[in-house]
Amino acid sequence: MEPYRIKVVEPIPVTTREQREEALKRVNYNLFDLRAEEVTIDLLTDSGTGALSAAQLAAGMAGDESYSGSRSFYRFHETVTELTGYAHVLPTHQGRAAERVLFSSLLKPGSIVLANTHFDTTRANVELNNCEARDLPCPEAKNLDSVEPFKGNIDLNELHRQLTGPDADRISVVVMTITNNGGGGQPVSMGNLKQTAALCRQYGVPLFLDAARFAENAWLVTRHEEGYRDRTPRQVAEEAFRLADGCMMSAKKDGIVHIGGFIGMNDPELAQRCELLLIATEGFATYGGLAGRDLDMMAQGLSEVTEPAYLAERADIAAHLAHRVRSAGVDIVEPPGLHALYLNAGRLLPHLPPHHYPGHALACRMYLEGGIRSAELGSLYLGEEDEDGNPIKSAPYELVRLALPRRVYTRSHYDHIGETLAKIAKQADTVHGFRITDQSPILRHFRATLEPVPAAG
Ligand SMILES: Cc1ncc(COP(=O)(O)O)c(C=O)c1O
Repeated sequence: MEPYRIKVVEPIPVTTREQREEALKRVNYNLFDLRAEEVTIDLLTDSGTGALSAAQLAAGMAGDESYSGSRSFYRFHETVTELTGYAHVLPTHQGRAAERVLFSSLLKPGSIVLANTHFDTTRANVELNNCEARDLPCPEAKNLDSVEPFKGNIDLNELHRQLTGPDADRISVVVMTITNNGGGGQPVSMGNLKQTAALCRQYGVPLFLDAARFAENAWLVTRHEEGYRDRTPRQVAEEAFRLADGCMMSAKKDGIVHIGGFIGMNDPELAQRCELLLIATEGFATYGGLAGRDLDMMAQGLSEVTEPAYLAERADIAAHLAHRVRSAGVDIVEPPGLHALYLNAGRLLPHLPPHHYPGHALACRMYLEGGIRSAELGSLYLGEEDEDGNPIKSAPYELVRLALPRRVYTRSHYDHIGETLAKIAKQADTVHGFRITDQSPILRHFRATLEPVPAAG
């Protein structure tokens, strides 16, 4: 059961099918453009959408809003330093600000960044620095149905090949995303992280964690990795941070705050470059674009997030949803993670080719049928077409991500999702595809407009 009770509630919008149909037309079938008050259950992201605890709100009230050297900063700094062990810690307003400040200070044009899988903003921030982002997911990640527990691992053979290959001198950093959001929310084992750290040390390349979901990764390590079953998630997390040379963190996930992030690192020269850029573009080094109260709430959230009872319930409610979805006849990327379930839309809708975006089609139908908002992770996100809409590149899989906000929805909300999917699965052949009518040059899934492609025949 949930290790908390509800003290404050917020009504959720209940709309009619007609209203939702109208809303979809109005936003040109881009779910990012819906008004939140048109959405009944919002699974677009688990980022910044969690419920604050009473202790976090109380910490926020005690926030010190001094421009420099606030009490809030020192509380935040002490918490992050104890957790991560890094010599230098800089607050940022969210994860992508941490990425921008770090990469702009660390990379040179033409540099290569290697990762188990780059998250979309991480890749964008590498490319905006005229650098190249290469993903090296482990081979097990390719089999969506396999229940292998650490499918978020980096491919160590490929990492070794890259670190010793012809482009080796351009590799500036290795990033390990824990858990691997772009790779189905799968965790990274401590064994894989240790071997990655050893290779990075051997070849003189810094290793940084993208630590947005460090606590959820640590929880899965304590459940599934030999040698870690008697450790607490906090102990695992502390060890993981210390294997790397630094981290970027979006605290909107495992900081359980609405806004916040940080960069941690051991290299003093890099820290100095980051600090100057931070001051120029985010805010002074003791607030980094945040209010004092945000720093206090983040410090409190970072302490709460590794509590075993909280993580156990989060895993349990995700498993409950996974069970409902499978029973509805919809396959998911196995095994289910903690922060999201990934629906295999390609398999549910085999009549839709990648360039008619089966993932997007399923996401739109879930909104239409049940008022549920989710995110496509398929060829709308990763594919490319020529000017006439002919496919040049499609995604390896056509997925829909149901991200689970922390401490927000209960089991009956998740049952509604299962019921909605069961209804869609029964008439899956009636789900029609989409074509893009307008798009931006990068991160197109955020801004694209689309129109339905009528079913053939
Ligand atoms: C793994 C990962 N890294 C970085 C980010 C970017 O963080 P933010 O949204 O706080 O900018 C996200 C956000 O979803 C993420 O999942």
